Amino acid sequence: MADRKRVGVLISGRGSNLQALIDAHAQPGYPAEIVRVISNVPDVFGLERAKAAGIPTAVVSHKDFPDRESFERAINAQLEADGAELVCLAGFMRVLTDYFVSSWNGRLLNIHPSLLPLFKGLHTHERAIQEGVRFAGCTVHFVVPEMDSGPIIAQAVVPILPDDTPDLLAARVLEQEHVVYPLALALVCEGKTRIEHGTVRLSGVKTVMQALVNPQASLA
Ligand code: GAR
Repeated sequence: MADRKRVGVLISGRGSNLQALIDAHAQPGYPAEIVRVISNVPDVFGLERAKAAGIPTAVVSHKDFPDRESFERAINAQLEADGAELVCLAGFMRVLTDYFVSSWNGRLLNIHPSLLPLFKGLHTHERAIQEGVRFAGCTVHFVVPEMDSGPIIAQAVVPILPDDTPDLLAARVLEQEHVVYPLALALVCEGKTRIEHGTVRLSGVKTVMQALVNPQASLA
């Protein structure tokens, strides 16, 4: 496919979302090509996943730099050398400065394991269970300087069940992360998203029409 978008993926760990993106990019007709996987942590499993798929990798350790911006400049230099047009954060656990975010403005995606704007930050599943909400989920959004904010591209919703633990819920959400991240990246690459007044306008997509109720209650 001639006009596949060139995508760099940043990771810090096991890389299951990276794997979902790799599996999607291997599909004929998928509109993105992963040109580089960069980890800020050496020896993580995500790097093995990239190597197994024949995708070039790099380790840029934050520990080798005096401050965040010089660390990010090194990442940027690699991405520019690879001709990356978009960047996906996939379990990348470093806070990014305005320098990095603004240099990829509108071209930087993140996945977060909650239904944003609820539960920004860490321990999202534990907090969702503690709050007693009936649904959890995940969000793919464009990155803005404020953490876990930014125009939302796609979300997936899962129920929270009566006996859920944070681990059980995390597994249920993760399964949907692997669906929604490749979908959101495809929408962006195909030009079906437009950022307007801080939100994403979608075009040429089907949206969900049915409501979900949890628990499934019958009044009869
Ligand atoms: C995923 O659940 C992702 O949503 C989360 O880290 C996990 C990475 O897993 N990201 C964040 O919490 C970012 N705020 P993975 O390495 O298997 O993709």
